[in-house]
Amino acid sequence: MLIDMNAGIVILILKIAVVAVTVLWLGSLITLALGQTKLHGRINIVFFVLTLIALFGLEVIARVIGPPGMFDDYLELKDARLAMRIHLAFSVPSALLLFVMLFTGLKHKRKVHIAMGVVFSVLWIGTFITGVFFLPHE
Ligand code: HEM
Repeated sequence: MLIDMNAGIVILILKIAVVAVTVLWLGSLITLALGQTKLHGRINIVFFVLTLIALFGLEVIARVIGPPGMFDDYLELKDARLAMRIHLAFSVPSALLLFVMLFTGLKHKRKVHIAMGVVFSVLWIGTFITGVFFLPHE
């Protein structure tokens, strides 16, 4: 029971983190639309750092501190293994694309940055919807 709760709480914390950084990301798109490209870049650097801390940091800490198989057991119990697979199909590529986005933005590779931005947007929205709405939390 304690094990279920821990995995469920980690998922809850990650959901809150994803909502928070998504607000930041939307803010960066608004500043972009307003022509404040520098601010768009600054906000997205924060978005990049916080997202990596949230997704990798918390997950690594949870896996190191928590008992082995904590998530597997929890997802099995909640019948949510498929939901997690679908979520990872969006979140893993979007996390990898983050590096491409930061690099192309900083290097002003405008065409690639915008094209990848469209792909990133689809993947991030998928990450958000599958993560926040489909995964079980406590
Ligand atoms: C829908 C997604 C996105 C779109 C459409 C977009 C679009 C743009 C555009 C048009 C520029 C100006 C490029 C130039 O003329 O040099 C820019 C700059 C930049 N973007 Fe993005 N971007 C997106 C997401 C991101 C993300 C996710 C990151 C970081 C993780 C990011 C980081 C940056 C940075 C660092 C700059 C440079 C800002 C500066 O000039 O100081 N962008 N972006």
